[in-house]
Amino acid sequence: MESTRLKTEMTRRAFVTSSAAAVIVSGLVPDAAAATTFAEQPANRGTAPFRVIIDTDPGVDDALALLLAMRSPELKIEAITPVAGNVPLELTLPNALRMVEIAGRTDIPVAAGAKAPLMRRLVTAAYAHGENGLGGAVFPEPTTKPVATPAPELIRQIVRKYPGEVTLITIGPLTNIATALNSDAELVGMVRGLVMMGGSLSGGNITPAAEFNVYVDPEAARIVFQSGIPITMVGLDVTRKTSLTDEHVRVLEAAQNPVSQAAAKIGRNAINHNREGGYLVGPNMHDSLAVAGFLDPSILTLQDYYVDVETTGELTAGATLGYSPIAGDLRRRPGMEKDAAAMNVLVRGSAPTLATTRWSPVLRRKYVPNTKVAVDVDSPKFFDLLIGRLSGKR
Ligand code: RIB
Ligand code: CA
Repeated sequence: MESTRLKTEMTRRAFVTSSAAAVIVSGLVPDAAAATTFAEQPANRGTAPFRVIIDTDPGVDDALALLLAMRSPELKIEAITPVAGNVPLELTLPNALRMVEIAGRTDIPVAAGAKAPLMRRLVTAAYAHGENGLGGAVFPEPTTKPVATPAPELIRQIVRKYPGEVTLITIGPLTNIATALNSDAELVGMVRGLVMMGGSLSGGNITPAAEFNVYVDPEAARIVFQSGIPITMVGLDVTRKTSLTDEHVRVLEAAQNPVSQAAAKIGRNAINHNREGGYLVGPNMHDSLAVAGFLDPSILTLQDYYVDVETTGELTAGATLGYSPIAGDLRRRPGMEKDAAAMNVLVRGSAPTLATTRWSPVLRRKYVPNTKVAVDVDSPKFFDLLIGRLSGKR
């Protein structure tokens, strides 16, 4: 039983490692110096414009990420698919519609997604994003309507229409994505790649263990990580290094266009909210970094890991665990990491309880990476792109 399952797992993931051969991996503790940049792995790039679907829970940082994406000619945004997360869908949907109207991009279809996670009650982050989801920044009710097709079905239709061309940029909980993958077994092989804002190898933000997007729907996240789709994980490891400042907002306020004015309004409110909460730095631009890292690969430094998601912990559900050939603080002899695929690293589960029938906590015996994890970021370069695009200067 065990060996059959292992064989199935490795077959399904074999094609992921085929593009990972050139990647240099390092220890479990992110060590950027030993990593390689996204630009060195052209497999994910293709030629602009890049067809993308943006799955989102706007959300203060989602709003700025959506405005960045809509101001970026490298992207052909095939759809925006709101999901419940930071605030309920009743707010994330109109907030997404507000952003497409502000950007003058009502040509982009917006489709309503999930109201709740796959198997859990919805936990929101209104404490961070305000009751309206935009940090208290008020904009007119949108007049644009969503398309009638539900988000998971629209995702499925677009991916099937452009097999091998569509990158999913996910900046909220992964409920819509998991639902779309579950609805069509062939979809996994048609998605070009998935760039997520989510997860963390260095501790969570909503709990010590879990980053919010994965925390809200750990089961959906596990489906995505185990799908075999080439994943780039832009997690808290790097997004914590991207704090919006008063100077950034001043540049936006000085630019006279609807996008920069809206971004300035949202940013100003968010900085004030952080200050009132006693934070010494401004809000992190989590979601914009995922978009920017796709637009300019040199902004992020990536490292191959096998990443899996805790789904049963009373305290740790939503934790993302990264396994790598160089385990913990016992580094192997120099150079060995160059042949990561040949090195065995045990993907070990928790110790089996007396009640379980599972004879061993070892879940996998061979290192098969499934994710490129962002382990470092050029933050000034990121903000040059973000503020430049939002202000219309780039
Ligand atoms: O943990 C940060 C993520 O959770 C961001 O996507 C933010 O918008 C929230 O959804
Ligand atoms: Ca988000």
